[in-house]
Amino acid sequence: MSRNRRRDKAIYKLGLRIAIYTGLISAVLTFIIIYTFDHGWEESLLISAMVMAATALTSYVVGYKLQYRRIKVLERVSKNISKKRFEEIEDLRTQYDDELDYIIKHLIKSSRTVEREIQRLNRIENYRKEFIGDISHELKTPIFAIQGFIETLLNGALEDEEVNKKFLQKAMRNVNRLIFLTKDLMEISKLETGELKSDIESIYLYEIVHDVVENLMYKADKEEVDLIIHPFDRNIQIRADKNQIRQVLVNIIENGIKYNIKGGKVEVGIEPNKQRADKIDLFVKDTGMGIDKTDIPRVTERFFRVDKSRSRERGGTGLGLAIVKHIIEAHGEKLTITSEPNKGSVFSVSLSKIAS
Ligand SMILES: Nc1ncnc2c1ncn2[C@@H]1O[C@H](COP(=O)(O)OP(=O)(O)OP(=O)(O)O)[C@@H](O)[C@H]1O
Ligand SMILES: [Mg+2]
Repeated sequence: MSRNRRRDKAIYKLGLRIAIYTGLISAVLTFIIIYTFDHGWEESLLISAMVMAATALTSYVVGYKLQYRRIKVLERVSKNISKKRFEEIEDLRTQYDDELDYIIKHLIKSSRTVEREIQRLNRIENYRKEFIGDISHELKTPIFAIQGFIETLLNGALEDEEVNKKFLQKAMRNVNRLIFLTKDLMEISKLETGELKSDIESIYLYEIVHDVVENLMYKADKEEVDLIIHPFDRNIQIRADKNQIRQVLVNIIENGIKYNIKGGKVEVGIEPNKQRADKIDLFVKDTGMGIDKTDIPRVTERFFRVDKSRSRERGGTGLGLAIVKHIIEAHGEKLTITSEPNKGSVFSVSLSKIAS
């Protein structure tokens, strides 16, 4: 039997059942009333039988008309859900505000939940595919480099003390890159899937800035870059996740040092936010190579590097600013980048100040 015929038969059965019940109830009631008013039982029975037939017929016709269209709607909704055609469900309307309409409305609502969930899973799945592709690509470079060094050593270079030390050091540098890469990858995947939550509390900005700058001073010295902090009020408190803000600062200042020139400068400081009195901007300004206008929106993308070989050579994997962007967004704050090639860049992060 076709699906449509099965559906029509079901509606017909339902209508028949309603007709029998309403007919029987009205017949019994009519019989009681007429019999009470002293009519004979034969006459009462005849009138009741007529009332029963009329009620049953009316309720069958009305019930059938009322239900038929809506059962078809119900059927369409469930059919569309199973075929994942959610946009078609939007057009379906109900009109009586009764139990059947309630079920239809609920089913439409559930279909939206299913749709959102499918979209979320698709997004995660696409993210996962892209992420795995990116990772395997990034892992290949240091792994092949290590393989190359070991092969050369095994092929005889091991005998030469001068060469083997140099090669082992190079292999070690690549191992270190792999270690940093794994750490950053774990962090970014947690941030991107929303697994890592920010632990927001009141923190003193001064302490964090000074601590981070102190820790990076040796890197700046090594690169012959002048790293300075513009003095600011020690008592300024912000609402943020301490470790995450520290990470933001490390990543941005490290870039300022890394993409700078010998004798260059990195300045760290705060200034009032131009739009909001309850915020301040923490800025990191460098006199480095700068970023081309077209590349500015892309530097916060995962694995994006303006000059891949230069970044790799300096140990960069292109994850630092992607991590920064996610942390800043999770805080509901904004990262602003202004830059001019060969002149330098300014990375500015808005922060929520606590009124003192
Ligand atoms: N201050 C800067 N000056 C010039 N270019 C920059 C600056 N900061 C970032 N960039 C460019 O943006 C790219 C992305 O930066 P990001 O910090 O995300 O990655 P990375 O420094 O290459 O690697 P990682 O930070 O993961 O070690 C860099 O490769 C670099 O090309
Ligand atoms: Mg970086």
